[in-house]
Amino acid sequence: MIPKETIQQIIETARIEEVVGDYVLLKKRGVNLLGLCPFHHEKTPSFTVSPAKGLYKCFGCGAGGSSVSFIMEHEHKTYPEALRHLARKYHIEVKEEEQTADQIAQFNERESMMQLVDFASKYFTNQLWETEVGKSVGLSYLHERGISPKMIKKFELGYSPDEWSAFTDYAIKNAQDIVLLEKTGLTIVRENEKRIDRFKGRVMFPIHNLTGQVIGFGGRTLLNDKKQAKYLNSPESELYHKSKVLYGISFARNEMVKKDNCYLVEGYTDVISMFDSGVENVVASSGTALTTDQIKLIKRFTNNVTVLYDGDFAGIKAGLRGIDMILSEGMNVRVVLFPDGEDPDSFARSHSSTELQDFITTQAQDFISFKTNILSTEAQNDPIKRAGLIKEIVQTIAIIPDSITRQVYVRECSVLLQMPEQTLMNELNKILRKNMSESFGNIPEVPKHASTLIWPSNINTTQTRLVGEEENLARILVKYGREDFIIKRLNEDDIVLNVAYYIIDQLEYDGLSFENQVYKEIYREFATDLEGESFRDYQYYFNHPNKELASFFVDQSLDKYEISNNWFDKKQIYIKTEKKDLLAQSVQRSVLQFKLRVLQKDIEKIQLQLKDEKNDETINQLLKLNSKKNNQKKFLSEQLGITILH
Ligand code: CTP
Ligand code: MN
Repeated sequence: MIPKETIQQIIETARIEEVVGDYVLLKKRGVNLLGLCPFHHEKTPSFTVSPAKGLYKCFGCGAGGSSVSFIMEHEHKTYPEALRHLARKYHIEVKEEEQTADQIAQFNERESMMQLVDFASKYFTNQLWETEVGKSVGLSYLHERGISPKMIKKFELGYSPDEWSAFTDYAIKNAQDIVLLEKTGLTIVRENEKRIDRFKGRVMFPIHNLTGQVIGFGGRTLLNDKKQAKYLNSPESELYHKSKVLYGISFARNEMVKKDNCYLVEGYTDVISMFDSGVENVVASSGTALTTDQIKLIKRFTNNVTVLYDGDFAGIKAGLRGIDMILSEGMNVRVVLFPDGEDPDSFARSHSSTELQDFITTQAQDFISFKTNILSTEAQNDPIKRAGLIKEIVQTIAIIPDSITRQVYVRECSVLLQMPEQTLMNELNKILRKNMSESFGNIPEVPKHASTLIWPSNINTTQTRLVGEEENLARILVKYGREDFIIKRLNEDDIVLNVAYYIIDQLEYDGLSFENQVYKEIYREFATDLEGESFRDYQYYFNHPNKELASFFVDQSLDKYEISNNWFDKKQIYIKTEKKDLLAQSVQRSVLQFKLRVLQKDIEKIQLQLKDEKNDETINQLLKLNSKKNNQKKFLSEQLGITILH
């Protein structure tokens, strides 16, 4: 236990720029430092370090945090490990705190259990390799299954003799404690005090923790008896928490980092066979439904999971939930479906290692196409089922925390399902909004009077100008472009986004631009800043060759730390007063309002054209375009909580 004061001292001493600087080449960019993100592959730097805030964040992949979390992420360390790492770097002495008697007892008990389990593991391997029964029954079974001696040794497989208490007797003889034997589940004590072995006549698969220590076992029966459980596992204990363990993790962890991917399979033998075929970044959930703890364990090493499914339908449908869970951790999921009746183990044994590796790379599909394929066989000609399918898929997309990733999947989904992107988007937003209001009842509601804000849809003026909305957005860009805003999510890390990045990304995405020459130039400058090394500081803009631009900057910079409510007040839109929330809301709303105004303008243009157009073909096209734009407008308005009257 590291004392609180020491933790505080480490946190205060470990300067973010120095800690990150050990790994990333950082260049100055205004008050911040900028470099290439070590957590994802990028060519232009979007990894920002703020010495003032003691934080780092990557605008590309969203990684972000403090010195300690940087070391945790980068070095795959736990929190105390990261603290000790930093303490070493800064020569801070860590006097581990005296633990309470309870803590010591608990710790000692876990240690003792660990020793006992290790003792047992050695006993089982000894039985397998050194005894006549072990060799003739256990080892020959493993040989028959095609598990190579090399793997048997690597995974420390063993054999428990088919006797009532062979192991327990041996353990007691070797001064092991009966209480611990029972606690680890190795021995079952009957009511009549009779002690029997939990595992008898089974091939033993030791389960290792992250650091490679044995913490439990799975024992496979050698009989083909349907009444016997095929596998028997260690019960839950102080030492072994089934839901937090992944079989094979200690062997796979390095390769997971190297390959930046993790293959997730179901069973012990799947892990071993794939490993034998040269695929070492593989772990198993060991027959239990995947848990969040297990996913987080994977996430310490890679953000990419490829789930390998046996080719039976029931299993696949059950596994879909696992996919959703992985997605909700913000990780990427791919899926490989094995031919019917095959699991990774059987496939690996009946194919060469090249064939296996080819198979899992070429067959891997992203979860959208996987889910679509699985579900659409059911829904083919049934429109009601088809609607259900679409809902189901969009529901999964809604789980993804990152909005840009969501958009990518909506696009793909629209192609696969042959559905208009907009329809899917509408559905998605409905779900998102519902989830949001369910999770934070307190989301700033657009008050009733906002619905009196009406965007007339067929106004007769010849030209709507973008003025208000455009100026507003330019103003935000100038004043807050360098700042970050935070999108809060339930049970998830907040997303930190740079304002300029967000605005420019949003406009580029829809192919929009400013009309006003000055704003256009500002936009270009910020885009250059984002692509290049740094945000140029205010002095650069104050002295800009374009006088109008310069004075716009000066004007906006005078009250830099206060968002003027004017513009919003005019539009009667409710604003929360807390600055960060306000900024997040203002930025997002302003982008939407700008987009809405552009659409409005486009629609007017179309209507003007329609008035004079004589050619039927062209009229048809214009009408189509008109209805498309109107749909988009309706969608944006819904997001803004504006009612449109027709
Ligand atoms: N499992 C379990 N208890 C059972 C059955 C299965 O704990 N009664 C777990 C085991 O971790 C097993 C995994 O679920 O490895 C997958 O089960 P299954 O596919 O039935 O077993 P295989 O791994 O294919 O085992 P084998 O090839 O030996 O039949
Ligand atoms: Mn199998």
